[in-house]
Amino acid sequence: MPNIGTAVRRWLAMLLGMAALAGAATGAALASGRYEGVASCAGSTCHGRADGDGKIVRQDELRLWQEPSTRGGAHSRTYAALVSLRGERIASTLGLGRAGSAAACLGCHATPAGARGDRFLISDGVGCEGCHGPASGWIASHYAVGASHAGNVAAGMNALDNPKVRAAVCLDCHLGSDKPGQFVTHAMMAAGHPRISFELDLFSSLQQHWNVDADYTARKPSSDNVRLWAVGQAEAVQRSLSLFRQADLASNGIFPEFTFYDCHSCHRGIDDNPERTRTFETNPARPIPFGQPPYNDENIIMLSAVAQVLAPREAGQFDAAARNFHAAMGKGRPEAVAAAGRLGTATSALGDAMARGPGGSDTAFQVIAAIGGRAVSVRFTDYTGSAQSVMAVDTLLNLMVREGRVTVGAAAGIRASINRAYAAVATPAEYNPGAFRAALRQAVNAIGTLR
Ligand code: HEC
Ligand code: HEC
Ligand code: HEC
Ligand code: HEC
Repeated sequence: MPNIGTAVRRWLAMLLGMAALAGAATGAALASGRYEGVASCAGSTCHGRADGDGKIVRQDELRLWQEPSTRGGAHSRTYAALVSLRGERIASTLGLGRAGSAAACLGCHATPAGARGDRFLISDGVGCEGCHGPASGWIASHYAVGASHAGNVAAGMNALDNPKVRAAVCLDCHLGSDKPGQFVTHAMMAAGHPRISFELDLFSSLQQHWNVDADYTARKPSSDNVRLWAVGQAEAVQRSLSLFRQADLASNGIFPEFTFYDCHSCHRGIDDNPERTRTFETNPARPIPFGQPPYNDENIIMLSAVAQVLAPREAGQFDAAARNFHAAMGKGRPEAVAAAGRLGTATSALGDAMARGPGGSDTAFQVIAAIGGRAVSVRFTDYTGSAQSVMAVDTLLNLMVREGRVTVGAAAGIRASINRAYAAVATPAEYNPGAFRAALRQAVNAIGTLR
């Protein structure tokens, strides 16, 4: 295992590559070919074994993908969730007809397939090819003697071991894209769709159906978790900004599309008491007119924290671009679109600088400290940013355990303070920024004692 500093440096190299994705942010990873269907992968000598004891890969991937008792089985249930009572209600409220044939929903609740083979079933939900890519080009050859990952990728398999590719694939459905049926509008949420929340490293482990063992790291040496986390943040910033720049997605009648904004800025109780009880805090990093909903900047805040550690000089430019973007929101759509473009450019430049910057075995500790530090923690005034920061701290701590920087016992000893921070974002309606920051500070301090 490389030390954390090297690991961090390597994901920074990935951030660099991110610049190329900024323009064509969506769909960069998706290969073309025919979708053959889950049944084509499910043979009992292939991925359909009862036990995960295959020689190279587990071979019980089908069982894990279907596992009814865990979140790991979620992708086999996406179509069933769509045509559930709740799904039908959402679709009929929106006038979309039957949910199971609503194009606005199928892009995420089924495998978004072009050409389809005989065994493709839409009711399989997000099947193997929904992530690994259409299999027609490689299904017959990918397990043959002499097959290699690079060869499979050349034949059309998605390189999900590459954090940037993986982020692009997951974010299509877990943040949104401009491809058909992959965008959750505020209208959908008002009609009953849950909010979607995502963190690349955490969600990868929640649906893990592969063993990161010696042969895996030999075949796919690029896997490490700080990089996954950071690439997930950077790609989410780029993706959100690129969707926001598209006029048809970013507006709804005379209003902007509310899905891009901090939900709780609008959804609060009102009271007419003479003693006004303010239910929100102003945020120094968001210079917007008083009473306007702020752009959801959860991933921007995380990148800002990482930048303080790895590219302190460029961090200022990135923060300024983020501030200008918020400020432009108070001016007009053309100004905001231009500022979104500049923030996208600053995000790329940051990746560039961080790839060259210093790194050491202490990096993950420093990033955690930055997240809890004064400059960043004043920005936790809303629910989504706060929830993202707890996931980040948890992810980074797990990484240090995996890399042997912190012992399992020591991490377990401070679990209670991390759980308190999670509890402070457990229910959106009870979220209180001051209480949240206190809980986060405690967790960050506890981790600091392990340093
Ligand atoms: C951008 C991708 C995307 C689109 C488009 C989308 N969904 Fe979803 N949907 C999700 C994700 C992701 C979740 C899981 C959210 C979570 O809990 O984190 C979800 C959850 C749901 C759930 C709750 C499932 C459960 O297990 O309780 C229902 C019902 C649902 N969606 C129906 C719909 C309907 C109906 C449409 C079309 C109007 C739609 N979705 C469009 C991604 C999408
Ligand atoms: C939600 C996305 C997603 C779905 C759906 C999915 N996978 Fe995966 N799979 C991944 C990711 C991410 C990895 C880890 C990255 C990698 O090894 O390429 C992975 C890894 C694997 C591996 C290990 C590869 C190795 O080199 O050791 C196999 C085998 C696999 N998946 C098979 C399947 C099969 C079979 C299905 C369907 C039953 C499936 N996957 C469904 C995302 C997915
Ligand atoms: C084609 C769309 C699609 C893609 C691609 C996709 N997902 Fe999902 N995923 C969904 C939907 C829809 C749900 C919600 C299902 C439900 O709630 O019933 C979901 C649920 C999940 C869950 C369970 C979450 C929970 O709270 O229960 C995890 C974990 C997850 N996805 C991880 C990933 C990862 C990691 C990737 C990329 C490797 C990925 N997904 C790619 C559509 C997708
Ligand atoms: C700019 C203000 C604004 C923002 C930001 C906003 N909403 Fe809304 N939301 C509204 C309005 C206005 C309505 C309609 C209320 C009505 O009809 O009285 C609404 C309705 C809803 C409803 C239906 C409530 C009901 O009583 O049926 C839900 C659920 C919802 N929004 C969720 C969200 C989520 C989740 C987000 C963040 C992604 C969000 N909203 C962001 C203004 C906003």
